[in-house]
Amino acid sequence: MESHGSSGTSVCVRLRPPNSRESGVRCLARAGDAAVAFSPPAAEGGGGGAPAPNQFTFNKVYGEGATQADVFEDCRRVVHGVLAGVNGTIMAYGQTGSGKTHTLIGDVTHPELRGIVPRAVQALGEGIAADASAAEYEVRLTVVEIYCERVRDLLDPLGRDNLAIKQGRDGGMFVEGAPGPGRGATEVCVTDEAQLVGLMNAGLAARAVTATNMNATSSRSHCIVTVAVEKACPDGSTVAGKLRMVDLAGSERQDKTGAAGQTLVEGSQINRSLSALANVVAALTEGGGGGAGGGSHIPYRDSKLTRMLQDSLGGSARTLLVINCSPCADNAAETLSSLRFGSRALGIKNTVAVNRRLSPEALQQQLAQARAELEALRREMAALKLDGAAGAAACAAPGRDAAADAFGAVAVSRAAAEQPPPPAPWAVGLAVAAGLLLYFALIEDWALRGRLLV
Ligand SMILES: Nc1ncnc2c1ncn2[C@@H]1O[C@H](COP(=O)(O)OP(=O)(O)O)[C@@H](O)[C@H]1O
Ligand SMILES: [Mg+2]
Repeated sequence: MESHGSSGTSVCVRLRPPNSRESGVRCLARAGDAAVAFSPPAAEGGGGGAPAPNQFTFNKVYGEGATQADVFEDCRRVVHGVLAGVNGTIMAYGQTGSGKTHTLIGDVTHPELRGIVPRAVQALGEGIAADASAAEYEVRLTVVEIYCERVRDLLDPLGRDNLAIKQGRDGGMFVEGAPGPGRGATEVCVTDEAQLVGLMNAGLAARAVTATNMNATSSRSHCIVTVAVEKACPDGSTVAGKLRMVDLAGSERQDKTGAAGQTLVEGSQINRSLSALANVVAALTEGGGGGAGGGSHIPYRDSKLTRMLQDSLGGSARTLLVINCSPCADNAAETLSSLRFGSRALGIKNTVAVNRRLSPEALQQQLAQARAELEALRREMAALKLDGAAGAAACAAPGRDAAADAFGAVAVSRAAAEQPPPPAPWAVGLAVAAGLLLYFALIEDWALRGRLLV
């Protein structure tokens, strides 16, 4: 994954083993470390033999035998980045029953079957414990789900829902509740790993689940576990990173699930947010633009899900998308649609940034230093201007030989035809000083905003 980090977005595909309800006839196979071959089932009733397989390339492909530990190895970079102040997002996409919850959560009671979320929580705990500096950490956990376009707080005993999503000063998104006491999603400060795991499990247990024909325990909601880590450094600066892990609802078409009534309403809302997600990905990747900085409108506000993921899609977070697929021909249409979504997401470019706030003392020190350097430059510029004016006055002085002047004029005009005259030294100084002024203004701006590009 390391080599793909420059765009800030990685996409991998995970194939699960066939289940007892599937025929076992494969339409998808791993084709090397980073590719899959998709063989469309032969058209119904039509002859002409099987169509040629399509190859899709991703950052990594996990075959049916890949373990939870294998998958987590590629998540480590995102998780460790959080401790260094880089927001991270890991999300699982795919049809119901494709293995999203298995990949993200897994069996939290089984050491080998634990998914990305419990492993990430453990890795964060270990990273904090291994820090030998005098830094102090604060770890906070939120677990929310987006269900029928309402954001529900899964750690709130009152089960508040319809919370608002807001954008913080650092550009990151957070969940905010209605005005009044207890506003905002429950954000629990966690002091040890066991507490973190316990809370996370409680939140996950509160998730709304509805049986469908596809999978008796499939979730019809998007579930978002966020671990925020804030590190107070001994020099007074603060480094803050958020790890957001998203178990998306199933991406299948509702006509296949046999849904009716409330489940049909859920299905249409899920489809709405997933199509909003697809639209955001399309807008970010149209014309090869990749990032949100291209100036075109990115429809983040079209759904709660995309609003929540604003920083993860074309923003400053490091994002890893896992596309979960069944390898069986029974699910060929959904698998192909998931692979296409993943392919498209490969084009998203995030500009990874560190969230660091300098201490007021450090900021003032930097500003004082920048001002002193500016003053020195101003003096240098004034001196250069004076030099330039003195040189021009010397050239215009009377008493020079007229023939030499005429010869000089011809020579100069020939030289001028061949190359532009060199700029006066004071003009060079002015340009350099203007560049430096701009540079210091930018440094000052970055320092004030507390964000440094990496
Ligand atoms: N890689 C895998 N290896 C073994 N079993 C898996 C794998 N992926 C999924 N499963 C099993 O398949 C079933 C459906 O997976 P699940 O994660 O619930 O799907 P989703 O969350 O996408 O609806 C579960 O019983 C799960 O344990
Ligand atoms: Mg699930």
